[in-house]
Amino acid sequence: MQTQPEGGFTAPNPHRPAETAADFTITQAWDAYTPEEHDRWRRLFERQAEILKDRAAPEFLAGLDALAIAADGIPDFRRLNDELSRRTGWQIVAVPGLVPEAIFFDHLAHKRFPSTCFIRREDQFDYIQEPDVFHDVFGHVPLLSNPVFADYMQAYGEGGLKALRLGTLDQLARLYWYTVEFGLIQTPQGLRIYGAGIVSSEGESRFSLESAEPNRLGFDVRRLLRTRYRIDDFQETYFVIDSYRQLFDATLPDFTPHYEALKTLPELEPGTVLASDRVFTRGTGRVKRH
Ligand code: PHE
Ligand code: FE
Repeated sequence: MQTQPEGGFTAPNPHRPAETAADFTITQAWDAYTPEEHDRWRRLFERQAEILKDRAAPEFLAGLDALAIAADGIPDFRRLNDELSRRTGWQIVAVPGLVPEAIFFDHLAHKRFPSTCFIRREDQFDYIQEPDVFHDVFGHVPLLSNPVFADYMQAYGEGGLKALRLGTLDQLARLYWYTVEFGLIQTPQGLRIYGAGIVSSEGESRFSLESAEPNRLGFDVRRLLRTRYRIDDFQETYFVIDSYRQLFDATLPDFTPHYEALKTLPELEPGTVLASDRVFTRGTGRVKRH
C-alpha cells in the first residue's frame, strides 16, 4: 500500500540489493527465491483464492486467471510482463520497497507498476504493514489486465504528479486509498471487492463485505478527497463504485476545482456519514482492532 508510512526493512535479502537505479528499480532475482518462499506464496494464494472466489470482483478473478497468477510459486515478472504488455501495455518494475511519491507517480504515468519482490516472513503470514510481493502482485496486478482500470491507474499517476505541484497530495492520496486499495464494486450478485489492500488480506476480505461495523457508501470524487483514512486497522468506511468506467469518467476532469473547493470544506473523519451520501449499509461503528 503505497500511501502507508515506510516500514523498517528487515534482514539483508537478495531481492533488496544496495544498488538501486535513479528510478528506484532493481531486478527481481527470481532464481534467488527459496523453496520456502515459493511455498509461502502458494499457501497465501490458496487461502485467498478460496475466500475470494465469491467475494472478489469478476474482473479481478479474470485477471488472476488470464495472467496465470497461480499457486505454483512467486510469479516471474518477466513472464507477467509478456502477458500484461499484450493486454494493456503495462509492465511491472521491481522496487525495494516504498519509493518517493514523484518516482511512484512517474512510473504509473508511464504504465509501469512498481512492485516489491520480497515476500513476507512466516510470522507475518496474516498481516504485514508494508507492501510485499504478495500484496503487490496478487493484490494489484490482476486488474492491470483490465483496460479501463489500467487507464485509471495511468491517469492517477499523472494526477499524482499534478497534485505534487499543487501541494494537494494529501487529498489525492485518499482517492487511491478508497479505490485502488480498499474499493468495493456493485455487481448483479451483490457487492464485490476490487481493492488490493482487501484482496491480499484474509481478515479484511471477510470484514469488508460481511461485517455490520463499517459503512458502505456510494463513490463520489469530492467526497472521497475530503475523507481521512486509517492505516492501522480495517476501514470504517468503504466506497462502492458501479463500474470501472464510472471511476475513470469521474476522475478524468481537471481536479483543480475540487482542490479549490476543499480549501473551505472541512475534512471528514473516516466514519462520517453525510445526508448526501448514497448509503449501501450504515455501519454500527464498532471497528475491530487488529
Ligand atoms: N483528473 C485528475 C486531475 O486533474 C487526475 C486524476 C485522474 C486523478 C485519475 C486521479 C485519478 O488531477
Ligand atoms: Fe498497495
